[in-house]
Amino acid sequence: MSTINYVPVLLLLPLLFGLCNASFVTIHILNILSDDVLLFCTSQPGINAHLHPQNPFYWSFPAETSENCFTDWHELRAPFSAYDSHYDQGHPNIYWMVKQDGLYHSWDNKSFVKKVGWN
Ligand SMILES: *[C@@H]1O[C@H](CO)[C@@H](O)[C@H](O)[C@H]1NC(C)=O
Repeated sequence: MSTINYVPVLLLLPLLFGLCNASFVTIHILNILSDDVLLFCTSQPGINAHLHPQNPFYWSFPAETSENCFTDWHELRAPFSAYDSHYDQGHPNIYWMVKQDGLYHSWDNKSFVKKVGWN
């Protein structure tokens, strides 16, 4: 019985947990309008969804790349960077709120800042 065999495993475990924690973020979008908006995201595997009012939508995304999306509301469009690998770096959750005057961004699901209007 030797302890040698355990050494690689002991070294590997924190590394694997570290990678798992670091490699994905969750993007949350809440539509608080009174009707649906459409969401399209261009990064693989791609998102194409109807966001129903008050029905939170979320997905996980690799932290090292950026996720670019746009929302369509009737004839209006709002392009936005749902996850920016530099700007949002270190935040495991990104929150977006879809409102009458545009899209709002938050890291804590509490304080939201307007990032883009409809055009
Ligand atoms: C974010 O806040 C909204 C509104 O308070 C709530 O409905 C939602 O569950 C929250 N999302 C998460 C992931 O905590």
